[in-house]
Order: sequence, then C-alpha cells, then structure tokens
Amino acid sequence: MTSTELLYEGKAKKVFATSDPDVVIVEFKDDATAFNGEKKGQIAQKGVANAAITTRLMNFLASHGIPTHFHKQLDERRLAVARLQMVPLEVVVRNRVAGSLEKRMGVAEGTVLEAPVVELYFKNDALGDPLLNEDHIRAMGIASEELVAQLKKQALEVNRLLQGFFDDRQLILVDFKLEFGMQGGQLLLGDEISPDTCRLWDKKTLRKMDKDRFRRDLGGVEDAYREVLERVLS
Ligand code: TMP
Repeated sequence: MTSTELLYEGKAKKVFATSDPDVVIVEFKDDATAFNGEKKGQIAQKGVANAAITTRLMNFLASHGIPTHFHKQLDERRLAVARLQMVPLEVVVRNRVAGSLEKRMGVAEGTVLEAPVVELYFKNDALGDPLLNEDHIRAMGIASEELVAQLKKQALEVNRLLQGFFDDRQLILVDFKLEFGMQGGQLLLGDEISPDTCRLWDKKTLRKMDKDRFRRDLGGVEDAYREVLERVLS
C-alpha cells in the first residue's frame, strides 16, 4: 500500500491518505510530549515498539469481539487502519489511582478503586483536554446519550480484556486512554494502545513501565518500552 498525502501530524504520529478513501496509514514517531506539549523529547525506538504493541493489542481485542480500526501492520512503524470520523472525546479507564486522579482527589497513588472508573475528556488541545461530565457532553452537542453509553460499555469491556492480557504478562493495568471513531455507521476503537497511553506497572516490584518514566524524568524510558514490547509479544 503506497502512502500519499500527509493528512495530519500529531505529537506522536503522522497520518497519511491512501488510494482507498476508507483506509489511512498511521506512522509512529519517536517524539514524546507531556503536559499538553509543554515537555518535549524523543524516546529511541518508541515508534517501533508502539506500532508492534498496538498491533498485538488491537488483534487481541478484535479476536475477543471489539470492533477496531486496525487492518494490518505494513512495516516497523506503519499500520494500515480504517479512516474514522473521530468522536472528539478521550475515554480514560482507571483501575487504580494515579496521575490526574491522584491530584484531583488527594488519594495515594496505587490505591485500588472499588470499581473501574470511566472518565471522558474533550479532545481540544487549546483547552488542554478538559474533563467533562455527561451533562456537558449532551448539552454541548458533543455526543448523544446513546453514543456515550456505547463508549463507556466498550471501554469497560476493553478494560476487562486488557487487564487479563497484562496480568498474564506480570503487568498491572493501572489506567489507560482510548479514542473511538465512526466508519459506515459503525463505532470502531481507534488510535493506539501503548505505554504512551496506558499506565503499566510490574506486578511484583510495581516499577513503572510506561510514559510516566518520561513525564517524571525517572530514567530507563527506552528499556521500559522494550520490556513491555517483549512481554506483550510473549
Ligand atoms: P491522567 O492521569 O494524566 O489523566 O492520564 C490517564 C491515562 O490516560 C494515562 O494512562 C495516560 C493516558 N493519557 C493519554 O494517553 N494522553 C493524554 O494526553 C493524557 C493526559 C493521558
């Protein structure tokens, strides 16, 4: 498949058109940002790791009944995926307290939540992706009640499946972010699933194995991505 026109360049990926209007190519970069782009850097081989991790996880989810945008991996950094009309929401699922929830609630990092928490953020860099509630989403016409219910149901099912997948590989799925979009009237899981978009801790040592190592300057960033890749492919 030949990629042509660059449609979009994000912080960690580029998206190219193809000769098929329903298919785009996503290319994973080594660029990393945090805090809405305030902190910038590079993580060597991150694009290669994230493309392979996303491929494995999308295939795993599809084989368990989750409709996804994934078609196939083209090479080390590029995936062919369905072109989606994106829902402008980031869907976060949390199993333990960390990150912005830790700040918002003042509860210790790692505290296990009694039930998974789903949060919806407005995808808008200029506003810093604010947290919205379902009333905001309905009243501002961002998504219908039915679509929000569908997003939450899919996200919780993805959480159930991924928790088991990572548990088998000695990793705790602390939290993660999903994005969804529509093609031909169907809701598909889009974007990526990787250590950029998940918090993953080693089950025994609780060592952070994700982008928090970059966000917080913990060192060993490349090794963490490589280790997650090895475990995901095992
Ligand atoms: P948070 O604790 O910073 O709100 O992040 C929750 C989860 O969402 C965490 O696994 C990291 C992921 N995430 C993204 O993938 N992109 C983002 O822009 C942010 C803020 C978080």
